[in-house]
Amino acid sequence: MVRRTNTKTVQSVPDLNVVPAVKTTAYNDINLNAWKDYDFVKTDTLWEFPHRLKEGGHSNEYHGNFIPQIAQQLYWRYTKKNDVVLDLFFGSGTSGIEAINMGRRCIGVELKDELAEKVSEKFTPKQLVTDVNIICADSTTELAKEKIKARLEIMRQDKAQLLILHPPYDDIIKFSDRKEDLSNCASTEVFYDEFQKVAQNGYDLLEDKRFAALIIGDEYKNGELVSLGFECQERMKRIGFVHKATIVKDMQGNERAKGKLAPLWRYRALMGGFNNFKHEYIMIFQKDEKRKRKLERLNKLAS
Ligand SMILES: C[S@@+](CC[C@H](N)C(=O)[O-])C[C@H]1O[C@@H](n2cnc3c(N)ncnc32)[C@H](O)[C@@H]1O
Repeated sequence: MVRRTNTKTVQSVPDLNVVPAVKTTAYNDINLNAWKDYDFVKTDTLWEFPHRLKEGGHSNEYHGNFIPQIAQQLYWRYTKKNDVVLDLFFGSGTSGIEAINMGRRCIGVELKDELAEKVSEKFTPKQLVTDVNIICADSTTELAKEKIKARLEIMRQDKAQLLILHPPYDDIIKFSDRKEDLSNCASTEVFYDEFQKVAQNGYDLLEDKRFAALIIGDEYKNGELVSLGFECQERMKRIGFVHKATIVKDMQGNERAKGKLAPLWRYRALMGGFNNFKHEYIMIFQKDEKRKRKLERLNKLAS
């Protein structure tokens, strides 16, 4: 800035002690100049929520939903106000309800039409036009992608700003009898391949430098631990996502059945030599097109 005093022209020096009031990243609204005020935002790799949030429009009627606190944490960390969250396994709409509560928008894709219809009733007609778009489709398909693109256009967005993937944990819970349902895959290997198709659609529809969250747990099958989480994590990386974090979330106190079968499972564990799951994972990834292209170039040179 140039200032004129009497006869001299003086170049004024910016005051380095003046800290801008608000400093944020490109992907959230956390004011880094007041970072100590955000102790409610989790940055560690162990998440414990003793109780499932039931207020704020959430009900706990859907077997296999995640707790609203997961959406809250993800939104604080990885979205700005008005951003669009894309959830490719919408289920009972937890991500959509929390989007409304926190001033975000959401596109949710769910395979079961009767569920998609029922979940729509949780939102007002106006919210369904401006803030929450529910699509009934198979998220593995090109058709689902086209439908999402059309909704993004209505919301005046090219891409979404956060991707949420909360797939069935293989066949632990059967969500329907439909063959396209990821809980009905012929084998776990097919489940991984179908999951990867959904994740690829999500990658293509996510804005560059933005984040994706995968919520998943492991299973025991035929007397063996099957690390669904770690294999899906590898599939995300294969697509080109950068792996940023693996969070272990304590499930105790969050389950619907409140552990009524716990004594039976403890007996089975003692007999079978395995351990009972008390955790699931929240895995965080980032899309970085420049880094992906660079790695592809290096790999090509190396081969
Ligand atoms: C683990 S639940 C998601 C629950 C959700 N996060 C919530 O809080 O309610 C998985 C959902 O994915 C749906 N689903 C399974 N296969 C699908 C597919 N191919 N395309 C879209 N949705 C699918 C199931 O019907 C089920 O509702």
